[in-house]
Amino acid sequence: MSLQDLIPVVNKLQDIVTTTQLAELDLPILAVVGSQSCGKSSVLENIVGRDFLPRGTGIVTRRPLVLQLMNISENDPVINSDTGFRSSSSSFSNGEASDEAVNLEDHLRRHAANGSYQPPNEWGEFLHIPHKRFYNFSDIRREIENETHRIAGQNKGISRLPINLKIYSPRVLNLTLVDLPGLTKIPIGDQPTDIEKQTRNLILEYVSKPNCIILAVSPANVDLVNSESLKLARQVDPTGKRTVGVLTKLDLMDQGTNALDILKGNVYPLKLGFIGIVNRSQQDISDNKSLDDSLFSEQQFFQNHTAYRSMSSKCGTKYLALTLNKILMTHIRDRLPDIKAKLNTLMGQTEQELASYGEIPSHLKDSKESRGAMVLSLMTKFATTFMNSIEGTSVN
Ligand code: GDP
Ligand code: NA
Ligand code: MG
Repeated sequence: MSLQDLIPVVNKLQDIVTTTQLAELDLPILAVVGSQSCGKSSVLENIVGRDFLPRGTGIVTRRPLVLQLMNISENDPVINSDTGFRSSSSSFSNGEASDEAVNLEDHLRRHAANGSYQPPNEWGEFLHIPHKRFYNFSDIRREIENETHRIAGQNKGISRLPINLKIYSPRVLNLTLVDLPGLTKIPIGDQPTDIEKQTRNLILEYVSKPNCIILAVSPANVDLVNSESLKLARQVDPTGKRTVGVLTKLDLMDQGTNALDILKGNVYPLKLGFIGIVNRSQQDISDNKSLDDSLFSEQQFFQNHTAYRSMSSKCGTKYLALTLNKILMTHIRDRLPDIKAKLNTLMGQTEQELASYGEIPSHLKDSKESRGAMVLSLMTKFATTFMNSIEGTSVN
């Protein structure tokens, strides 16, 4: 079993832990930090590979967005059996199917005849709207905006209450990402006078956890010495072992200057290094430049740039996504002994509870009690499989 295979297992484990309301297992997450408009939301969106995050000049991200990316198989797009506990795909065959699912099923039937139909195989689900699948990514963006307004008001206020969104797609790596409001100095709109402190505390809630990997975003057109993200990251990760430097806006640097020294690690020491990025400009966003076009021109930028050409394979969004996945896997592996210890306790408790049920009489097979016992038995089985599989895990 490779570590890549481990990630969906850990995601599932997280769901079980949440569903059964046991203690948190403290699994790793990735959070983006940086000054306002340095490109945090753009970076996240590029990693996900779909347009769906509100972006733009000024303060756009005003609530934390906890984004869980769930990789699903390309061949099994709609009736997907691996999407976690809460939103089991059995809704297609039981009586509790959501409107969306029913509509989709109708849709599939109608199109099955001509054989040309490709069912949508990417969707989002919000925690605050259970069982509703958003197939349209513009609708996801609108929902994020509406939810932001609902809790954080219409006028630039921020809220520490997160929006939880899961994205199911065959095109994503299995990652949990957090988009955060930008670090800001001067209050505007409805913002309180201590907005800087509030934002900082909000960000610290996420990045001070030892299991948080920090994407410290700095715009390349501002001197790195003034980087708010690096300052904050150093506060919680002084040795720089869980901070990745992300240098955006390389296209906006002054003519004749480049960031080669930073990217090579000669300016600021970070064990995980710096990765250069070119996101879409505001003009690109206004022109509706597609994400694929943007990733292509980003690649072109690095390959054609005299300074970056020689290291272009270690620049850009694709390399960032790969790097993040590797870091995440290493991180999980390092925490396995701890997870294993917690699972041991969990298994002990589960076995005791199971024993207390005794034999299940056949007339109770469909009762609530027997279903409870079945869930517990499944959990035990799962925990055993999980522990066996991690025994054999090796670094690669
Ligand atoms: P956030 O506030 O940190 O989340 O930043 P956004 O992702 O919302 O981006 C803020 C603005 O900067 C938007 O207008 C983006 O188009 C622009 N932007 C972000 N990254 C880049 C980049 O690498 N190059 C250019 N030219 N513009 C960028
Ligand atoms: Na912004
Ligand atoms: Mg943002």
